[in-house]
Amino acid sequence: MSAAQALAVDCRDVVKGFGSGEARVMALRGVTLQVNTGEMTLLVGPSGCGKTTLISAIAGMLTPDSGGIRVFGEDLERMSRRKLTAFRAGTVGFVFQQFNLLPALTCVENASIPLRVLGRPAGEANRRAAELLDRLGMAQHRDRFPGDLSGGQQQRVAIARALVHDPRLVVCDEPTASLDAANGQAAMALLRELAMKDGRAVIVVTHDERIYRFADRIAHMADGHIENVSDLETAAA
Ligand SMILES: Nc1ncnc2c1ncn2[C@@H]1O[C@H](COP(=O)(O)OP(=O)(O)OP(=O)(O)O)[C@@H](O)[C@H]1O
Ligand SMILES: [Mg+2]
Repeated sequence: MSAAQALAVDCRDVVKGFGSGEARVMALRGVTLQVNTGEMTLLVGPSGCGKTTLISAIAGMLTPDSGGIRVFGEDLERMSRRKLTAFRAGTVGFVFQQFNLLPALTCVENASIPLRVLGRPAGEANRRAAELLDRLGMAQHRDRFPGDLSGGQQQRVAIARALVHDPRLVVCDEPTASLDAANGQAAMALLRELAMKDGRAVIVVTHDERIYRFADRIAHMADGHIENVSDLETAAA
């Protein structure tokens, strides 16, 4: 870790189960993982191993059964409800696996939501959202509704929404799964730009080997554990 780097995320023995009795599923069985600022970390592993559960917990959207998660030095479990809400809205950008766009809002309006939640005026929020949509090759679709878009187009709106408020931590669940090579590269370049800014960090869940070259580190997950973390040779810095 260089002098400018610090811990963005520190997960200690995080456990999370769903359901009860016979039907109980242990999604996280004691995850320990550290993510540095100034870096992009990939999270890979087979379907059902707990990737979405882990990043949801890191983003403060899911409370672990035990263990601790510290983000930028603050323990999520010690945050008041109000502080946690502010953390989710202001500090985190999240790209959901299923996009979660609002069907009644246009692309620009969807992408501007985080800024609107933070109280910024519509004009400013829409301008910033439009800029990001342009960078993602969505200029001509800005005013369309999600229901009229392809999967890859919806995915790009979801990425713009995650970045629009310039969050310190961006967490993405398979952000390139619906994108072709060119659009996938544009999306990863944007994410990489953010990761390299001072004090920022990006975590990307992926099955897409085309994006390995954008990342610094790769964490391999299996059956609710992190098996190992290794450095990647970053070509796209
Ligand atoms: N809300 C939930 N209720 C019950 N079980 C859940 C819930 N969310 C996740 N699980 C279970 O927890 C385990 C981990 O799920 P998770 O979604 O984290 O996997 P994943 O690694 O993201 O998989 P994929 O690559 O398919 O997206 C799975 O067995 C899943 O069925
Ligand atoms: Mg998942």
